[in-house]
Amino acid sequence: MPVLGPLSYTLEVPSLDDGIRFYTDAGLEAESDGKVARFRCTGQERDSIILISGASKKRLHHVALRANGLDKIAADTATAGGSVITAPDGFEEDGLWVRDPHGVVYHLVERPADAAPAAGESFEINGPCRIIRTRRSAIKPSGQYPPVRPIKLGHVLLFTPDVMASVRFVTEALGMGLTDHAQDVVAFTCARKDSDHHVIAFAKSAGSGFHHASFQVNDPDEVGRGGAALVAKSGRGDWGFGRHTVGSNFFHYIQDPWGSWFEYYADMDYIDDYALWSPTNYGPEDSMANWGPKLPPDFIHNYEVDPGC
Ligand SMILES: [Fe+2]
Repeated sequence: MPVLGPLSYTLEVPSLDDGIRFYTDAGLEAESDGKVARFRCTGQERDSIILISGASKKRLHHVALRANGLDKIAADTATAGGSVITAPDGFEEDGLWVRDPHGVVYHLVERPADAAPAAGESFEINGPCRIIRTRRSAIKPSGQYPPVRPIKLGHVLLFTPDVMASVRFVTEALGMGLTDHAQDVVAFTCARKDSDHHVIAFAKSAGSGFHHASFQVNDPDEVGRGGAALVAKSGRGDWGFGRHTVGSNFFHYIQDPWGSWFEYYADMDYIDDYALWSPTNYGPEDSMANWGPKLPPDFIHNYEVDPGC
């Protein structure tokens, strides 16, 4: 089971300052030397986002994944139509660097799993004939909540000109599993053991690119509270609060400074053993959400292919 989970994503961007402002507003901790900015979740000892300055427009640089069995990944990469490459400029030659048939670069890294985060308070809901909370309020006055802080990077969604070809590469070369898909428009893949429903997802576009990254928060309240706070600060578009059919997660997406998206999520389906999971091919009506607001017009626009909209 080579890929074990997500580590980070790296973007080339025009303005580091815009990225530092946005991601710190989103609740991440930032560190920058003026050329490269790194962001991590509070409590984690590694980066989840790396921004490289100086690009004329935002561009996906690579996705890093925790993995084992790197020799097998290297062998399977060639048969799956990809190539093993040397580390890009500025990055160390550790682990294994591979490029998929569409030019997307993955960095596979052998490292220990993150320490388990502290369990949050359980999310309790009173319902008909199911009263589990009495004599106290579920919600505090709004000013009494600290800013929402992401717990971990959960997944990234990448644009691709051929969704099922991208799925074939990560399943055949990287040893991931197809969890679900909606025809050839969007597809979701996971690690084979102890994985969120999706670690890497793909959406159809004219070319490759970064669509969004999603960070876990404790519960649906934090999705709503974090999303509302971030969209107020960013002044850009959002999509949410809502709930996906595929993966079941509550979501709120906020547009980043470059037209792609940052998602807070809670309550995603979990796959402890992919051998016991059966993928579903959903209809288009379930490809985006089970319920939620109307989609922003540029939600699935690939600014890396078409800078105008
Ligand atoms: Fe997502």
